[in-house]
Amino acid sequence: MSKAPAYRRVLLKLSGEALAGQEGFGIHLETLTSIAKDIKEAVQTGVQMGIVIGAGNFFRGMAASAKGMDRASADYMGMLATCINSLALQDALEKQGLATRVQSAIEMAEIAEPYIRRKAIRHLEKNRIVIFAAGTGNPYFTTDTAAALRAMEINADIILKATKVDGIYDKDPMKFKDAHLFQKLTYIEVLNKGLQVMDSTAISLCMDNRLPIITFNLTVPGNISRVISGNPIGTLVASA
Ligand code: GTP
Repeated sequence: MSKAPAYRRVLLKLSGEALAGQEGFGIHLETLTSIAKDIKEAVQTGVQMGIVIGAGNFFRGMAASAKGMDRASADYMGMLATCINSLALQDALEKQGLATRVQSAIEMAEIAEPYIRRKAIRHLEKNRIVIFAAGTGNPYFTTDTAAALRAMEINADIILKATKVDGIYDKDPMKFKDAHLFQKLTYIEVLNKGLQVMDSTAISLCMDNRLPIITFNLTVPGNISRVISGNPIGTLVASA
């Protein structure tokens, strides 16, 4: 039996880019399978898990709008791309023998269940992984904000924000060798220092509702289980 989890229910936020692996675009099946295996190891501890995935491996609404595309249209395209990622992750998780449900914030009944909060909670209680697709269903909101919102709605204990680096640094660790990794930060520190963890809407939502966030490195196999078992990796963002 795996070690008891430190949390009862968590919301895992994956970036779309995480699914692309080294290829940087689209879905790299081996990477997806490896993420699914890590998730399996983590849920075997008994933790209940909701997942929100971004869409950066296909389309970035904000980047397209910066190049002149209507922001709302660009964001809707991004939301559709999260649905592709959600279905891909569902497939990979089912191949690992896990029960999953995809719920979409934009109705597409032929493809996924509509987002219904109480139904999502019932699925979680039955130890099904619920993948929340299509962001919040609204333009101008990021998938980080969708993760914060869904985490609150399902009464998650924490948001686990998976990234490509070990946590939150004072400067970009990919560019600066002397970048300092924070072990703990308050929400206000993240906002005041302008640290690129989640956008300010998502951080504010977590701050107002005292929902802690741990950012950690997804590219290290086994890290999802480590975070869930309470291992002090990554950076914790919480109240003082
Ligand atoms: P329980 O009520 O706990 O048994 O949950 P359940 O999800 O097994 O029951 P339900 O009959 O709602 O769903 C059976 C299957 O149909 C699941 O795989 C759902 O994800 C899927 N499903 C349910 N509603 C919809 C929908 O509106 N659209 C799509 N595409 N699939 C749906």
